Amino acid sequence: MKNDRVNFGSKLGVILASAGSAVGLGNIWRFPYEAGQHGGAAFILIYLVCVFVLGMPIMISEFLIGRRSRANTAGAYKVLAPHSPWRWVGFMGVLAGFLILSYYSVVAGWTLEYILEAGVNGFAHKSATDFKSAFIAFSQNPVRPLVWLIGFLLMTHYVIVKGVKKGIERFSKVMMPLLFILILILVFCSLSLPGSNKGVEFLLHPDFSKVNSEVFLGAMGQAFFSLSLGMGCLCTYASYFSKDTNLSRTAFSVGVIDTFIAILAGLIIFPAAFSVGISPDAGPSLIFITLPNVFQQAFIGAPVLSYIFSLMFYILLALAALTSTISMHEVVTAFIHEEFDISRTAAARWVTGGCIVLGIFCSLSLGILQHIKLFGLGFFDLFDFVTAKIMLPLGGMFISLFTGWYLDRKLVEDEVTNGGTLKVPFLKLYIFILKYIAPIAIALIFINELGLLS
Ligand code: PHE
Repeated sequence: MKNDRVNFGSKLGVILASAGSAVGLGNIWRFPYEAGQHGGAAFILIYLVCVFVLGMPIMISEFLIGRRSRANTAGAYKVLAPHSPWRWVGFMGVLAGFLILSYYSVVAGWTLEYILEAGVNGFAHKSATDFKSAFIAFSQNPVRPLVWLIGFLLMTHYVIVKGVKKGIERFSKVMMPLLFILILILVFCSLSLPGSNKGVEFLLHPDFSKVNSEVFLGAMGQAFFSLSLGMGCLCTYASYFSKDTNLSRTAFSVGVIDTFIAILAGLIIFPAAFSVGISPDAGPSLIFITLPNVFQQAFIGAPVLSYIFSLMFYILLALAALTSTISMHEVVTAFIHEEFDISRTAAARWVTGGCIVLGIFCSLSLGILQHIKLFGLGFFDLFDFVTAKIMLPLGGMFISLFTGWYLDRKLVEDEVTNGGTLKVPFLKLYIFILKYIAPIAIALIFINELGLLS
């Protein structure tokens, strides 16, 4: 079959680009504060179950929908289920991608401020309290975060218009391994801080008495968010996969890499937070307060090291965020480009422009627009809640129903086994999960959270 859509260049490129989408602020920023707010170890256990039982099969489904249809996520449903309402799953995904990109870029922008701060050695001789007040002052400033937000979206825009292979793939190949090494170094630093063992305990000793429906919803939402699932992101990437990409193995690699990095991030943040007496439920500000302190404390006798490591870390964090924003942007850009028949560059401009506007509201909602609340939440929190905890799991539920019930079984098996050439050991289990377990589990978590069961 001839197709003029570009492909990723290599097997490693496929895994790294998908892992680049998955690994981002979700692992290093969102996972620790969600785990911190929901009691630590018990949340993490539920999270792991969500990743491997719900996440893996749904990821394989997204892959197969994308590769089979070779279209953007809404187009994919039109190809595989013509004239049916399934395309709304695609539309919802595109909308979710757009909304996530808007508030995610706010936090991604913060990483740029921290690069600058690390670069001018602004962390030196500061205490934990200084970091806290500095972060509050910065995030509530009406101008500075906006400049970074716009800067970050323009960087994303630039990579998107350069195209798939040159931009995304080349980028992920260098970045991911570097980030991983630096994270490992930081784990050791954090564990060496005095009093860090309390943080390790928080991570490893589950307290099930704190588990309620909110913990389940939080863990499920975090699993979808962190794996970039439920909005057609990996589906869009898979439309650039080649015919011999092993879908189930790629999904497994991405799941393992993503989870590993989240747990390592936890091993950096919690020991550090407990060591300086910062509460683990500090919320979205958690890593921006604890981390600069780790760099200061861990290398007390060697300021050069603390300078180099902090600068490198924020650069890599920004790059990890960038590989994720690229993937969200790509979902929306591919959709507008292919469905409305306008050029890729023009489509990308609309997406970037729209996200700048929404992102400004999200950013200001942490400062001067603090008093504006919808359903009790400011824009930033509302966007996060609606996307991660509602739209992504709902998207995941529909994706599993679509693959489990709607799609022809032969087609599904054919895609997962690459036309029968691959042996996939869990194929039957995978289909069983998609048909029954995933939709029922997601529905139960929703119903439970809405209080309909109590
Ligand atoms: N998975 C990304 C992260 O952890 C965020 C993301 C969500 C990316 C949804 C794409 C789609 O940072």
